This record gives sequence, C-alpha cells and structure tokens, in this order.
Amino acid sequence: MMHKYPKEQRYTLAILQDIQRKYGYISKESMEKLSVYLDIPISRIYSMATFYKALSLQPKGQNIIKVCDGTACHIRSSIAIIEEIEKLLHIKPGETTMDGLFSIETVNCLGSCAIAPVMVINETYYGKVTPILLREILKGYGGTIDEDR
Ligand code: FES
Repeated sequence: MMHKYPKEQRYTLAILQDIQRKYGYISKESMEKLSVYLDIPISRIYSMATFYKALSLQPKGQNIIKVCDGTACHIRSSIAIIEEIEKLLHIKPGETTMDGLFSIETVNCLGSCAIAPVMVINETYYGKVTPILLREILKGYGGTIDEDR
C-alpha cells in the first residue's frame, strides 16, 4: 500500500492514514516496514502515530463509541456517561474491551448540542443519554455489561 507513494518523508502521514483506514490501527510491523521504505527512524513514525488522534496503535473495537465532552454536553453531565461506560464495560477513553466489541473515545462537539449529552456509536447518534438509557443502548450492540452495578 505504501508503494503507491514516492519514497519521501512528507508522505509519512498520508501512508499512516491509509494503514489506519485499511487495518483499523497502526501495527508495529507496519511502522517497521514504513521506516525501511522511507528510510526514516521508527521513533519518528511512532511519534507521529501517537501524536495524531485519528491514528491508533491499538486495534479498535467492532463498535466505536464516541462520547461528546464539548461544552454543552459537559454541562449536561457527559462525564457521568463516560464514567458509566467505564463501569459497565471496564474501559476508559482510548481503550477497547477484551472481547473486541467496543472502543470508547471522547470528542469535542458532535454538532448536536440541542440533544446533549450526545453519544455516537458507529454512525448512529443518541441524544439526552442517561445511565439507564446507556445500558439499553449497549445491550442492543450485544454488549455484556456488568448487571450487578
Ligand atoms: S457539545 Fe456535545 S454535541 Fe455539541
């Protein structure tokens, strides 16, 4: 995939984005190959891969949960939603569940402030999310949640 780009350092980010799109994350092997191809130190590729939020060094889950923590959502307790997800799925933002079903990320404003707090799973928007509603939503995606909580 990287061979469609000239062997020039300025294409590093474009190649990393392609790898991210194709595999869902940037593996160590991909970084090693890219390092050889562009003849640049792997440490530089690693710094870039960790700097850009759109790039991930971990495989992402089947379902990506994005919880908005922009101002409007923050005022309407988005933190409670994030904490509830942490309790139910045992993952924090940036992490993926052991079964690979969910990853969670926080974002700044999903453009639907009127229905804050807002959460998106894959392409589906959920507004006015409450901890109770959250449980039902996650179950709909086959999530195994900790019912004892
Ligand atoms: S601040 Fe959350 S949708 Fe705008």
